[in-house]
Amino acid sequence: MDAAYKRINGSYGQETEEQGTRRRRGSMYLEEETNKKSEVISCIFSLKEEVGALARGLRLFEEKGINLTHIESRPSRMNKDQYEFFITLDANCSQALDEVIDGLRTEISGHVHELSRSKEKDTVPWFPNDIQDLDRFANQILSYGSELDADHPGFTDPVYRARRKEFADIAYNYRQGDPLPTVEYTAEEVSTWREVYQQLRSIYPSLACKQFMDSLQQLEKECGYGEDRIPQLREVSAFLKEKTGFQLRPVAGLLSARDFLNSLAFRVFQCTQYIRHSSAPMHSPEPDCCHELLGHIPMLADKEFAQFSQEIGLASLGASDEDIEKLSTLYWFTVEFGLCKQNGTVKAYGAGLLSSYGELVYALSNEPEYKPFNPEETAVQPYQDQTYQPVYFVSESFEDAKIKMRRYSAAIKRPFAVRYDPFTCSVEVLDQPGKIQNALCQMREDLKTLHDALEKLGSS
Ligand SMILES: [Fe+2]
Repeated sequence: MDAAYKRINGSYGQETEEQGTRRRRGSMYLEEETNKKSEVISCIFSLKEEVGALARGLRLFEEKGINLTHIESRPSRMNKDQYEFFITLDANCSQALDEVIDGLRTEISGHVHELSRSKEKDTVPWFPNDIQDLDRFANQILSYGSELDADHPGFTDPVYRARRKEFADIAYNYRQGDPLPTVEYTAEEVSTWREVYQQLRSIYPSLACKQFMDSLQQLEKECGYGEDRIPQLREVSAFLKEKTGFQLRPVAGLLSARDFLNSLAFRVFQCTQYIRHSSAPMHSPEPDCCHELLGHIPMLADKEFAQFSQEIGLASLGASDEDIEKLSTLYWFTVEFGLCKQNGTVKAYGAGLLSSYGELVYALSNEPEYKPFNPEETAVQPYQDQTYQPVYFVSESFEDAKIKMRRYSAAIKRPFAVRYDPFTCSVEVLDQPGKIQNALCQMREDLKTLHDALEKLGSS
């Protein structure tokens, strides 16, 4: 029951590049696949179906001297009034493309989904530099939320499918900075939530880690958590922002592992808003709001854990495909299925466990094998996405896990280091001596403040 849940649950945030490519087949444009390793940039933009719209769009490319090497079109599956255009161009037009993308968005209200930048061996994959850049890949999803597999419990239910499309559309139209849309959940949806909440809530006190319990109690007190209503992402996001600076963003479908992890660098958690089908309240073949709200949110409200999550995100920026695979595996065995020691016993902190009654009980029984969390070893551990994990990694503490993760990240081969600026919600790429010097000056100021504070304590 829980096993099938994890099949997609894992791939939601974990999907490897290869899996991602596999999933994309079927709905993808032919060129999307064939140019994956070549020196081209490809993207999709959609325009309102009106006379002259495409001509105006193409003029922007012409003005910047960009030569399109391929273009094809189709009616948009997401919006009946729009057409989508898939284009490719030479990788050396990368800079000019940024200006065209801005023009498409501002001058003709187009939506642009960037699919790939140059895949040359020695180049760094594109990554978001500031929080607004998350809009660039938010809709670059591997499947739309309403497209259910044939074995999904809601596959033959037209009402459920229509509802899923409503949720997918909300996320599709969301832009960074917009207020998070609230949803009126139906009585049937609340009833499904109630069943999940009651069952899991009863075993949390004995199996969940202290940080999870502390946050859950706060969420129950301050954020409307309880069995009678499904919390709204807007309220939950505001709660998280206050606690750890994390915020939620509705997601329309499966993102690639790279895009999902990149969001964490900005303390943004891509979050589903729909709920599983009522016929199977204890089973969901994909992440849903029960998984996010019960599994992930309480942990993201903990400072140490939030920092740990961001560390994985920062390490993923511009990382090679091989390193993304390793970071995804690390995410899997920590954020999704992690265990930690507390007062001599082992407790759960992974969201995949804390949202799955069956695996939570199993993981803390004597059956599975435990190994100490060690990023080098954990990153290459084969993982199980069809049934329960045969092995779980146990952290000494989140502090310890964070230090180890930071050490691991520093060893990832990138020709630069990154530093997150919480004031501007952007990432500073430290690739020049001047930038590093500036960062050092700022750190010196911070150290001076701390030193002064210590002195004041000493003299009081
Ligand atoms: Fe998850």
